[in-house]
Amino acid sequence: MKAREIKTGVHWVGAVDWDRRLFDELIPLPDGTSYNAYLVQGSQKTALIDTVDPTMAEVLFARLDSLKVKAIDYVVINHAEQDHSGTLPGVLSKYPQAKVICTPKCKGLLMDLLLIPEAKIITVEDKETVSLGDRTLEFVHAAWVHWPETMLTYLREDKILFSCDLFGAHLATSELYVSDEGHLYESAKRYYAEIMMPFRPNIEKHLARLKEYNVELIAPSHGPLHRRPEFIIKAYHRWVFDPPQNIVVLPYISMHGSTRQMVNYFVEALTQRGVVVKQFELSQVDIGKLAMALVDAATLVIGTPTVLISPHPLVAYATFLANALRPKTRFASIIGSFGWGSRAKETIIDMIPNLKVELLEPVIIKGLPREADFKALDNLAAIIAEKHKGLAQASS
Ligand code: FEO
Repeated sequence: MKAREIKTGVHWVGAVDWDRRLFDELIPLPDGTSYNAYLVQGSQKTALIDTVDPTMAEVLFARLDSLKVKAIDYVVINHAEQDHSGTLPGVLSKYPQAKVICTPKCKGLLMDLLLIPEAKIITVEDKETVSLGDRTLEFVHAAWVHWPETMLTYLREDKILFSCDLFGAHLATSELYVSDEGHLYESAKRYYAEIMMPFRPNIEKHLARLKEYNVELIAPSHGPLHRRPEFIIKAYHRWVFDPPQNIVVLPYISMHGSTRQMVNYFVEALTQRGVVVKQFELSQVDIGKLAMALVDAATLVIGTPTVLISPHPLVAYATFLANALRPKTRFASIIGSFGWGSRAKETIIDMIPNLKVELLEPVIIKGLPREADFKALDNLAAIIAEKHKGLAQASS
């Protein structure tokens, strides 16, 4: 387990977690992940930027040992979430002279989450700098990418931005740098959709601020490093700023086939009108793919049967997620069938206050669809197609 040199005196000392399949006991990790930590050695001081998930503490220590690091002066904690800060107690015990550098908000979190003594922590304001001798660290407060305490660290002389979760990707790879931008794009988009999308307005501000910095290398805390920063910055611009596209995302489930008949008919009706449909059967869904589809979609249509007058619990789960992720979706509707009674429509509408959408008249029916129900689905498909055309014209 050796450190990997980025530049003389700047090393990657992180850990690649090939086998992890779930993050936060919620987010699927089809390609594993990495926890990136970096050692920056100046002429006078040495700083460790972030640590690793505590399950992989020994990997970090082995890499530091490979550099024969005798002393660490500063441990910069860009973000208090434990996949980056969790090995901080171990680092402080191995390097007892080290002080922790973080934002004022992060200080409280480190004291609460990891029981770090207050006396060990130095807080830094936005744009404050710390000298390592011939190298300078500048701290950029970046609230809500991912938590409110998050900051980025810019290594001025080397033009490296340690961007923490921002621009990251859950991707285990033996390559230090991005080599296949197409593959990375998918992983980074999945990461953006699951982790960053709820904070689009904050990201918008941070992207604007980062224009002040001359960045030659982006070193995130997950996934490979970006030697072409413009690639990932442009991707973020697209995801955050581009208007939603002519896409309907359709998460659904069916218990006895009635809702499925509606979904099948509706998908065909949309397709014939030139609308792209991304359909997700919820009993086997990869929620990461569903989240990615929501990044670009103009419309969300939820397909649900009724269980004890409510939406199916798996539909409720998907609806909860869509609401939490706050995509830029503009329109929403609901289709589905019930047996003897339903408040599924009302329940779903109450579950999506975060979605700033125009609700298009839902189609909720009793039993199997009849001719009038298919007409209602045709009508809904026609309205969606028209709405999407309006969006395209407004953005052209
Ligand atoms: Fe990778 Fe928000 O921690």
